[in-house]
Amino acid sequence: MTESLTVRDNRTGLEYEVPITDGTIRAADIGQIKPAEDQPGLAVYDPGFVNTASCRSSITYIDGDKGVLEYRGYPIEQLAEKSTFLEVAYLLIHGELPSREEYDTWVHNVTYHTFVHENVKGFMEGFRYDAHPMGMLMASVGALSTFYPDASNISDPETRDIQIIRMIAKMPTLGAWSFRHAQGKPYVYPDNDLSYTANFLSMLFKMSESKYEADERIVKALDTLFILHADHEQNCSTNAVRSVGSSQVDPYSAVAAGIGALYGPLHGGANEAVLRMLKRIGSKENIPSFIQGVKDGNERLMGFGHRVYKNYDPRAKIIKKACDDVFEVTGVNPLLEIAQELEKIALEDEYFVKRKLYPNVDFYSGLIYEALQFPPEMFTVLFAIGRTPGWLAQWLELTQDKEQKIARPKQIYTGARTLDFVPAAERWA
Ligand code: ACO
Repeated sequence: MTESLTVRDNRTGLEYEVPITDGTIRAADIGQIKPAEDQPGLAVYDPGFVNTASCRSSITYIDGDKGVLEYRGYPIEQLAEKSTFLEVAYLLIHGELPSREEYDTWVHNVTYHTFVHENVKGFMEGFRYDAHPMGMLMASVGALSTFYPDASNISDPETRDIQIIRMIAKMPTLGAWSFRHAQGKPYVYPDNDLSYTANFLSMLFKMSESKYEADERIVKALDTLFILHADHEQNCSTNAVRSVGSSQVDPYSAVAAGIGALYGPLHGGANEAVLRMLKRIGSKENIPSFIQGVKDGNERLMGFGHRVYKNYDPRAKIIKKACDDVFEVTGVNPLLEIAQELEKIALEDEYFVKRKLYPNVDFYSGLIYEALQFPPEMFTVLFAIGRTPGWLAQWLELTQDKEQKIARPKQIYTGARTLDFVPAAERWA
């Protein structure tokens, strides 16, 4: 039996049968419901798209109530423990795990493309000394489209593939250089003998030594963090990538838009905000008054709550474990105690329980990043590097989805109409 919805329009007394597919109805079917033939059809008002599916996708599955996250069907817990970021990137982009040969070729290609044109370095050097690295990353990724004009040929599969490899490969280079810039240190070129994540650490921290070799535990922890951030279905930045990509612009421009979305404090900027919050709280004694302020609506408990997860964010659990590994190398971050106590109190407090507010991925990630000596401005850059394969997998899916159209929502117009314009000279006379 086909599932359907019967809608009665009380303005006209007419009834409509609307098919239900995959738990959704098509907005176009609602659009046929009109008070009169010459009137606009019924539309759906949904600020923030909280109950609107914008695409069909086979990349990432989330069950927010149960706290489940899977990439291409594989649970995030297994990928975080047993895979590598580049293998996960391959999985997201290609839809299946690679054979040994496919994996080797993929790693070779990504490694081969880590360098950027010297002119990229030149214009990055032109940023102000205190430029936010996320602003630098957004601008330099967008600028890559001018270095690869072939990227605009998005209907060609081979061209798409090479841009995907380039972008995954170059993101750590651009991210590391944004970091070095703010520190007034020379930019470090990629070391292609190293793994993806070890090379990133080398470009961040290498000074006069001939080779930078990071502690393996740190490499693994950062690689895991990249895996955890690699995709999260239709979040704000992915929606930005898809929305901008729907105009058929090149992928560098679409991803630059995603980076812009990720920059905001309610999205990727949250872990930076968590850290600032923890520092402001300062000690465990101040937690009750802070929590009271949150409950009074004065501010939010950053790193808590999620549009989709109404349960513990599965990524937060894995990050908590990575914290232990990193702190084994770096020594414990004193803010961890405050975070753990905050979490304990919030998970028992009726305000948070009732609203199903649990720690999200950002609650603990900032603590790790700080222990690794990243300034807060870099946190979102790390997120962007991890999210790049996800953005690109979503973009790739978009380019091949025959149902997709240029993104163009409706509005409910609330402004004035048909006013008579009086020229400035008369108005100001
Ligand atoms: N602290 C206190 N109260 C909160 C919080 C919070 N962190 N988050 C939500 N609430 C409350 C809201 O005030 C609201 O209460 P009300 O019903 O009494 O008005 C209720 O919980 C529902 O909140 P919404 O804002 O409707 O939830 P929404 O799904 O729109 O927001 C969001 C999700 C933006 C993540 C929100 O929980 C938030 O601001 N959290 C803090 C910022 C943060 O950690 N962002 C990272 C998200 S994860 C990521 O981007 C990778």
